[in-house]
Amino acid sequence: MEEIDWVSLRAAAQAAMERAYVPYSHFPVGAAALASDGRIITGCNVENASFGLTLCAECSLVSALHGAGTPGELTVGETPPRLVAVAVVDRHGSPLTPCGRCRQLLHEHGGPELLLETSGGVKRLRDYLPDAFGPEYL
Ligand code: THU
Repeated sequence: MEEIDWVSLRAAAQAAMERAYVPYSHFPVGAAALASDGRIITGCNVENASFGLTLCAECSLVSALHGAGTPGELTVGETPPRLVAVAVVDRHGSPLTPCGRCRQLLHEHGGPELLLETSGGVKRLRDYLPDAFGPEYL
């Protein structure tokens, strides 16, 4: 397993967690990733009065991966970077296991070999989402 600085990644996830918008659940979540272009990107959960519209921390992480809202980070037509390693944390900075929908989101952008740290330790995404559906099935 490649060398990942999980302590730094967790710290970045915790800093992102502080920006969570969670007036309904009061359950802030932060996510941080090492991307294939070397960037550390982060996301936090953003809730909505229409509860089902809530964006999980992993959703904003994936948006950040694509440079959404950050002009100049990715040139148009450039191959988007991939997720290499992801840490998701709760309010205490402890690893949190991503919900099923987010496992699928992470799979699209990191694939089965993505390293994921959860309450169960560091594993490959394929261990959390076996036989995943992906673009190759379309
Ligand atoms: N949440 C995440 O941000 N990521 C997950 O993987 C699990 C759940 C958020 C959604 C909601 O704002 C709060 O945690 C409680 O479910």
